[in-house]
Amino acid sequence: MSRGTVHLLTALCVAAAMGYPSRRSATDLDATPRTTVTFDELSGVRRFRARALNYTTLLLEDERGVLYVGARGAIFALNSSDVADGSHRTIRWEASPEKQMDCLQKGKNNKTECFNHVRFLQRLNSTHLYACGTYAFHPLCAPIDADGFTLPSHFEEGKEKCPYDPSRGYTGLIVDGGLYTATRYEFRSLPDIRRNLHQRPLKTEESPLHWLNDAEFVASVLVRESRDSPVGDDDKIYYFFTERAGEETTSFFDKSQAARVARVARVCKSDLGGKKILQRKWTSFMKARLVCYIPYYEVLRSVCSLDRGGWPSTVFYATFTLSAQWRTMEASAVCRYSISEVQRAFEGPYMEYQDSARKWSRYDGRVPEPRPGSCITDHSRRKGYNSSQDLPNSVLDFVKLHPLMFEEVKPAGGEPLLVKKNVAYSQLAVDRVQALDGHSYDVLFMGTGDGWIHKAVVLGSGVHIIEEVQVFGDPQPVETLVVSRTQRSLYVGAASGILQVPLAACARYTSCYDCILARDPYCAWDGQACRETASADSAGLVQDVQHGNEGCRSSSARASLPRKNRTVLRGDDVLLPCDQRSNLARAVWLLNGTEAPGAGQERLRVGVDGLLVTDTLPEHSGEYRCYGEERGLRTLLAAYRLTVLPELPRAAAATLPPRPRAASQAAGDVKVVYISAITILVGLCVVLSSVLLYVSCLQKRKGKYILGEPRASSVELQTVSANCLRKGREEEEEDDDEDEDGLAYPDGCLQIIPGEAPTAAVTPAKELPAAAPPPPPPLPSELTNGVGALPNMLRKMNGNSYMLLQQQEEPLASPLYSASFTEELSKILEKRKHTQLVEKLDESSV
Ligand SMILES: *[C@@H]1O[C@H](CO)[C@@H](O)[C@H](O)[C@H]1NC(C)=O
Ligand SMILES: *[C@@H]1O[C@H](CO)[C@@H](O)[C@H](O)[C@H]1NC(C)=O
Ligand SMILES: *[C@@H]1O[C@H](CO)[C@@H](O)[C@H](O)[C@H]1NC(C)=O
Ligand SMILES: *[C@@H]1O[C@H](CO)[C@@H](O)[C@H](O)[C@H]1NC(C)=O
Ligand SMILES: *[C@@H]1O[C@H](CO)[C@@H](O)[C@H](O)[C@H]1NC(C)=O
Ligand SMILES: *[C@@H]1O[C@H](CO)[C@@H](O)[C@H](O)[C@H]1NC(C)=O
Repeated sequence: MSRGTVHLLTALCVAAAMGYPSRRSATDLDATPRTTVTFDELSGVRRFRARALNYTTLLLEDERGVLYVGARGAIFALNSSDVADGSHRTIRWEASPEKQMDCLQKGKNNKTECFNHVRFLQRLNSTHLYACGTYAFHPLCAPIDADGFTLPSHFEEGKEKCPYDPSRGYTGLIVDGGLYTATRYEFRSLPDIRRNLHQRPLKTEESPLHWLNDAEFVASVLVRESRDSPVGDDDKIYYFFTERAGEETTSFFDKSQAARVARVARVCKSDLGGKKILQRKWTSFMKARLVCYIPYYEVLRSVCSLDRGGWPSTVFYATFTLSAQWRTMEASAVCRYSISEVQRAFEGPYMEYQDSARKWSRYDGRVPEPRPGSCITDHSRRKGYNSSQDLPNSVLDFVKLHPLMFEEVKPAGGEPLLVKKNVAYSQLAVDRVQALDGHSYDVLFMGTGDGWIHKAVVLGSGVHIIEEVQVFGDPQPVETLVVSRTQRSLYVGAASGILQVPLAACARYTSCYDCILARDPYCAWDGQACRETASADSAGLVQDVQHGNEGCRSSSARASLPRKNRTVLRGDDVLLPCDQRSNLARAVWLLNGTEAPGAGQERLRVGVDGLLVTDTLPEHSGEYRCYGEERGLRTLLAAYRLTVLPELPRAAAATLPPRPRAASQAAGDVKVVYISAITILVGLCVVLSSVLLYVSCLQKRKGKYILGEPRASSVELQTVSANCLRKGREEEEEDDDEDEDGLAYPDGCLQIIPGEAPTAAVTPAKELPAAAPPPPPPLPSELTNGVGALPNMLRKMNGNSYMLLQQQEEPLASPLYSASFTEELSKILEKRKHTQLVEKLDESSV
C-alpha cells in the first residue's frame, strides 16, 4: 500500500473518529478572492504612524469622533474621520530607565519586551479612560482624563490586570465600572479570568482542578442577557481562548503531545463569589469546547460578535488557523456560532474528572439545585437565593469540580463558512449591511499574517470573497481590526502604524457588470458608475448580492473597444495580453468570431495573462478578441488584429534591430523554445540591447487564480525558478532544501522549466523529524495536495506563471524594461507569494 493510500485512510479514520463536522470538502468550502488589489494599486487609504511601534490596542468612540490607539510607549487620540489629518494628540508613556534595566537583567529581549506596551484601553466613565501597559515587565494601569489627555501623577499596580509579556494572549473589558480581564498575569502565574475595580474582585478556582489549562486568551464579549429577559437573567461575559485539552475523546493522541482545543467560557456579571466555598471565586464559570473544522488541530485566532439589536440574535464569528504541528502548511477556517448554540452547551450535561481513570467523562449523576453555574434568575430568587453568596454548598462544591460541559459548540450549519489554504487569518471584524434587496448581509474583514485584508460577504452557508487587498507593503500581521459604520471605515492596527481603509471602494468597478459581479453589498450601479449605496438615493440603483449576475441592461458589456494591431514575422512568438481583473473569470478568446482557437492547437496557449502564440504561421493572422466570462456574463477586455508576415519586408529589415531567431527553428516543440529562451538570456548579458525581452506576467500582474479544472486547451503553465534569487531567502526555506533537487541549479541564475511545477506527493507529516512523537493525523486530502514539499516561494506561486520572449511590441513603454531581469523576477515572485491557485489534485497522493 502506498504512503499516499495510508495517509488517506488515516485521514478518513481520524475524520470519523473525531466527528469531523463537515459534509462538504475543503475544496467546496474554499473561495477565491474575486479581485486582487496590491499595495501599489491601493487608493483612498489614510495612514498614521508616529515614532512609536506596535499600534495594537484600538478603542473607537464613534460618537465622539475619536480613535484612541495604544502603542509601544504612547497613547494617541486620532480624528476618526481622518486619522492622518495631523490633529492627533499624544501621551508619551515610556517605561522608566530603571525598569528597563530590571527587565534586561531578567533576561528579556531589549528589542521587543523591555518597553511599555499599552495593552488595555477602554472607557472607564464619562470623563476618563483606563489604560494598562506592560511597563517593561512591571505592568501599570492608570485612569486617563480623556479631554485633557494627560497621564495622572501616580499609577496603579497593574499586575492583577495586565500581562507582563507583550505578546501574551490578553483580553479585557470594562463593564458597568468593573474591569474584566483574562490573561496570564504575573511571572509564572497561571492563566486567569479576573474582575477588578469592583467591590467584589473575583478569580477562577485553581484547586483541586484548574479551571483553565495553559489558556491563551483571544477575545471577550459582553452579552446583555438581562435585557427584556422573561426569567430575570443576568448579563454574561463570554471568553474565547485555546487551552490544553484535558478530555481526550479518542485514543489517537499521544499523551505526551498536548492537544489544544478552542473553548468558550462564560461568567455572570452579578456573580459575587461564594460565602465560604468559592470565596472571591467565580461561582458561574462554565466552559465548553468550540469546534470548527479539524478538532484538536486548529488554533483560535480571532472572534467578533454581532447582533440585530436584541441579544438572542447574537452571532460570533471566529477564525482558526492550523496548529503548529503543520509546519509547512498554512490554512484558515472561519466559523459562525449562534448564541443559542453556545447556551445549549451550557445547559447540557457536565463533564467530570475521574481520578482513578485520570480522564474526563460525561457526568450522569444527580445535579443539585439551582443549576450549578447558572446566573441568579427569578426562579432562584423565588427560592431565596438572591445572590451567589446565598447558594447552597452542594451547588458551589459541584461548580468547583465541574467547570467543563459535555456538549461541544458546533458552528452554525455544522460546518465552516470558509476553509482557505495558504492563508493565516490573524484578525476578523464584521459589519452588517442592508442591501437593496431588503436583506442584511454580514461582511467579514479578515486580516492575514502578512498584511492583506480579505473582504467577504456571507451568503447562506458559505462566503464570497469580494477582494483581497494588500494594505501593508512590508508584510506584517494585521493585529487589530475595527469597523466604523459612521465613518464607513475599517481601522487596521499593526506593528508599523494605523490605517483607515474605506469599507468599500466601489469606484474600482468600472462597468455595470463589474459592479454586479463584485456582489459587494456596499456598492450599486447607478447607470454611470458604481457607487456606495448609502451615498445615493436607492432609486434606479442596480445590485445583485444574491446571484451576482442580474440587473445590467446590455447583454454584453463594452461591445467595442479600441483594437490594437500586432504585426509579427512568421516564426515569432507573440503574447496578446488580456488582463482578467477578476480572478473568478475565465478567459475566452474568439478568433474571427469563433471560440477557442486553442483547442488542439499547441501553438496557441491561453494563460492567465493573455494568449500566447508561439512560432506563428501566416494562418494565425486574424481578429482576436478576449472576453472575461463570469457567472454567465461575458465582458470584452481586449481586441487585437494580428498580422503574421511571411517574411521580412526588405525596407523594414534595415530598420529593425537584429533579433535572435532561435525560436523559429524549434517549430512545434515548446521545450526547445524555452531552451532557446535560456540561450537568449545568456546572450542578454553580452548584447543586452539586441534582445527585446518581455516578461508577460510583469506587465502589472499580481497573483492570479486559475478557475476550476485545467482545461485541455488551456496552457500548461510554466514555472520560473531562479537559484540565485533563493539564496537571499534561505531562512524561509531551510526546511525544504531536501525537496528542491528538481529545482535547484548550482551553476545558473535562471532556469525555465516547461510544464507544471513538480509537486511531489509529500504530505506535511513526512516532513516532521523522524524522532518526533507520532505525527499529527493527516489533514483532509483536499487540503494537502502535496504542496507541502515545495519551497514556500514556489508553492505560493504554485508554478502558475509563464514567461516568454516577445518582440516589437512597445518594448520601451514597459516601465520594467530597464530593470534587470533578476530584479524583475524577484518582484514577480514576491507578488506571487500572495497568490493561491486552485491546484490539480495530485494523483500520486490519492
Ligand atoms: C476631524 O476631521 C473632520 C474632517 O476632516 C473635522 O470636521 C473635525 O473637526 C475633526 N475633528 C477634530 C476633533 O479635529
Ligand atoms: C540589546 O542587547 C544586545 C546584546 O545584549 C546589544 O548588542 C544591543 O545593543 C541592545 N540594544 C539596545 C537597544 O539596547
Ligand atoms: C471617573 O473616574 C476617575 C478615576 O477613577 C475619577 O477621578 C472621576 O471623578 C470619575 N468621573 C466621574 C464623572 O465619575
Ligand atoms: C512590535 O513591533 C516589532 C517590530 O515590528 C515586532 O518585531 C514585535 O514583535 C512587536 N511586538 C509585539 C508585542 O507585537
Ligand atoms: C432575598 O430578598 C428578599 C426580598 O428582598 C428577602 O425577603 C429575602 O429575605 C432575601 N433572602 C435572603 C436569603 O437574603
Ligand atoms: C481571419 O480573417 C482574416 C480576414 O478577415 C483572414 O485573413 C484570416 O485568415 C482569418 N483567420 C482564420 C484563422 O480564420
